[in-house]
Amino acid sequence: MRIAMIGTGYVGLVSGACFSEFGTDVVCVDKDVTKIENLHKNIMPIFEPGLDKLVENNVSGGRLSFTTDLKEAVKGADAVFIGVGTPTRRGDGHADLSYVYGAAKEIAEAMDGYTVIVTKSTVPVGTGDEVEKIIRDTRPDAEFDVVSNPEFLREGSAIEDFMRPDRVVIGTESDRAQEVMRQLYRPLFLIETPIMFTQRRTSELIKYAANTFLAAKITFINEIADLCEVVGADVQAVAKGIGLDGRIGKKFLHAGPGYGGSCFPKDTLALVKTAQQYGSPLKIIETVVEVNAERKKKMAAKVIAACGGDVKGKKISVLGVAFKPNTDDMRDSPSLDIIPVLQDAGAEICAYDPEAMGEAKEMLPGVTWKENSYDTMEGASAIVLITEWNEFRMLDLDRVKELLETPVMVDLRNVYNRAEMKEAGFDYSCIGRAKL
Ligand SMILES: NC(=O)c1ccc[n+]([C@@H]2O[C@H](COP(=O)([O-])OP(=O)(O)OC[C@H]3O[C@@H](n4cnc5c(N)ncnc54)[C@H](O)[C@@H]3O)[C@@H](O)[C@H]2O)c1
Repeated sequence: MRIAMIGTGYVGLVSGACFSEFGTDVVCVDKDVTKIENLHKNIMPIFEPGLDKLVENNVSGGRLSFTTDLKEAVKGADAVFIGVGTPTRRGDGHADLSYVYGAAKEIAEAMDGYTVIVTKSTVPVGTGDEVEKIIRDTRPDAEFDVVSNPEFLREGSAIEDFMRPDRVVIGTESDRAQEVMRQLYRPLFLIETPIMFTQRRTSELIKYAANTFLAAKITFINEIADLCEVVGADVQAVAKGIGLDGRIGKKFLHAGPGYGGSCFPKDTLALVKTAQQYGSPLKIIETVVEVNAERKKKMAAKVIAACGGDVKGKKISVLGVAFKPNTDDMRDSPSLDIIPVLQDAGAEICAYDPEAMGEAKEMLPGVTWKENSYDTMEGASAIVLITEWNEFRMLDLDRVKELLETPVMVDLRNVYNRAEMKEAGFDYSCIGRAKL
């Protein structure tokens, strides 16, 4: 089997490398020349644990290669995956499908022989129909099927998620395309991963329904956290108490500063727009979008309150700016809402993130970047913990206290223990648990 992966971003690069690890010949294509040149030197465009080794092994094994030449990669491929971005379209909140449609046209021009075109990008219901139409219009003679195969990997554990997924969803009613997909995912059949074959439109909707459900779950516990703070309850205990119920489940019940990242914000918005377009609005998800956006903004007010109501002229130490640990992805990170509000209120921000500072520098002007946690703290009026990287979990609190001007910590990820922080002499506030 030989496949081409169009788009060598998070999803394209990780899935391409994983398919090659399964034994398939994979050519990853990207328009970004620098990205491909760097990949030829085994320089990864993203931080993802284990990815460089996986890529290196498969390149040297001759199963994985990189190119900017889409035509060459597509020619003779059994399957061509579309893994390009589907960001929010400017102005109206719908998914921007121009990259997907652009790729479909280029693929159509290059393919020869029966080819399965697989949409791995997250795309609204009906996109597969449009991709099919573009290919048919461009190449009326071509033999092909268009399949939906959404990706559920999480940044930070992307390789493990791809290799051992909870399920694989494949949307096609063509037996011939099903057979190609079965072959590609054969190693997962062997470890008894549930592989679900369904209609293309259903498959497209499954991806959005999954992401918006998870976003709603996070938003739910975040609102419960606010209630906990005012009634004197503990959100972590509430989350445990409800999460032990098998119908609810423990995951995605960590209260925090609001969801961010490359998927939930744009996917919630896109599904809201699709539902409105079809006259079947999703009021719950509309509210989730609104509540989450407000929440990110409210986090800055929480920091200002912890600093006595005023941060003008004060230095604030920020630990972590990525939207979650183990990634350098800054897309829609809560830090992008919190830090500018603090700066507007007159604070001087000193920040550190183990991996995301390169990405963050341009997005967060005016921030002073440091090489480690402790360097951000000297003379600061407060620490704000935004991303729960492991290295922030065991700070030397005596050293921290010596460095800070005032021992204030705002822990937006509930990493620390309230009683211990109080005993250590900190003015400690967190999420969903009243101050002790
Ligand atoms: N990032 C995630 O965790 C994740 C998880 C599941 C699904 N998804 C979905 O997967 C899709 C891709 O997301 P991503 O985060 O990997 O995006 P990304 O922005 O990291 O990468 C997309 C890549 O596609 C390239 N590209 C665009 N048009 C091209 C073309 N015509 N030919 C060749 N290359 C082209 C871009 O240069 C870019 O490198 C999105 O629809 C996203 O919603 C992402």
